[in-house]
Amino acid sequence: MSSSWENAADWYDKAVGQKGHYYHEHLILPNVLKELGLKKGEPARLLDLACGQGILSRNLPAFVEYVGVDAAGSLIQAAKKYRTACKTSFFTKDVTEELGLGEKLFTVATVILAIQNIETPLKVFLNAYKYLEKGGKLILVLNHPCFRIPRQSSWQVDTAKKLQYRRIDRYYSPLKIPIQTHPGREGSSTTYSFHHPLSAYTKWLKEAGFQIDLIDEWCSDKKSEGKMAKMEDRSRTEFPLFLAITAVKH
Ligand SMILES: C[S@@+](CC[C@H](N)C(=O)[O-])C[C@H]1O[C@@H](n2cnc3c(N)ncnc32)[C@H](O)[C@@H]1O
Repeated sequence: MSSSWENAADWYDKAVGQKGHYYHEHLILPNVLKELGLKKGEPARLLDLACGQGILSRNLPAFVEYVGVDAAGSLIQAAKKYRTACKTSFFTKDVTEELGLGEKLFTVATVILAIQNIETPLKVFLNAYKYLEKGGKLILVLNHPCFRIPRQSSWQVDTAKKLQYRRIDRYYSPLKIPIQTHPGREGSSTTYSFHHPLSAYTKWLKEAGFQIDLIDEWCSDKKSEGKMAKMEDRSRTEFPLFLAITAVKH
């Protein structure tokens, strides 16, 4: 399943580019950097699990020692081409398997927009636990599992109340959802999204040995235009796009 991203690698690299896509730039990277709280002079070794083409690495201060791991070899090749900092290395590996990264432990691990592309999140959390030092943080960023369930959630308009609301058709059952990179186009590649309710993530984190420190939610900062703008802008600030969980290894 992890290799399904190999076929989508070119499309994903173009979508993210050197600077990241809109939400990387506007929400994810600024908020992740804030949560990382990196300070020069303090040890900082970061393990980026399912790093894609390495967008996080290009936004870290140069003193951070960074290791990025992803199953898609083409994305790792792209990451190496973009590489700017010398303390950065990338490996092609499945993050649900033994990573063979040696004895030196990390101060922080991240899984950004990727845990929902992996069928067995617990195995990723166990790997993060293994490679983190005591007190080390795991930061997860995911599409909000309560409000953004591919094919099972959508915007609707209540004309009587003059509001746009979120319709959720399914939530509690786990789902495996194929995603076409170019819907309707012949030869489009398919990746998979695995939906789980919020409680599933908290249980797996606990089972792996983590304690949750913070659950954060990030809303889109986009602004609409036209006659529906007010309604759309209000609903955008009511339903967060992303969920971020920080968990600590005790
Ligand atoms: C949406 S991309 C996110 C990549 C990157 N973190 C970012 O924010 O751009 C999801 C990534 O998960 C990776 N992936 C999926 N399953 C994986 C696995 N089992 N092991 C390692 N990487 C995996 C894919 O190759 C892809 O790069």
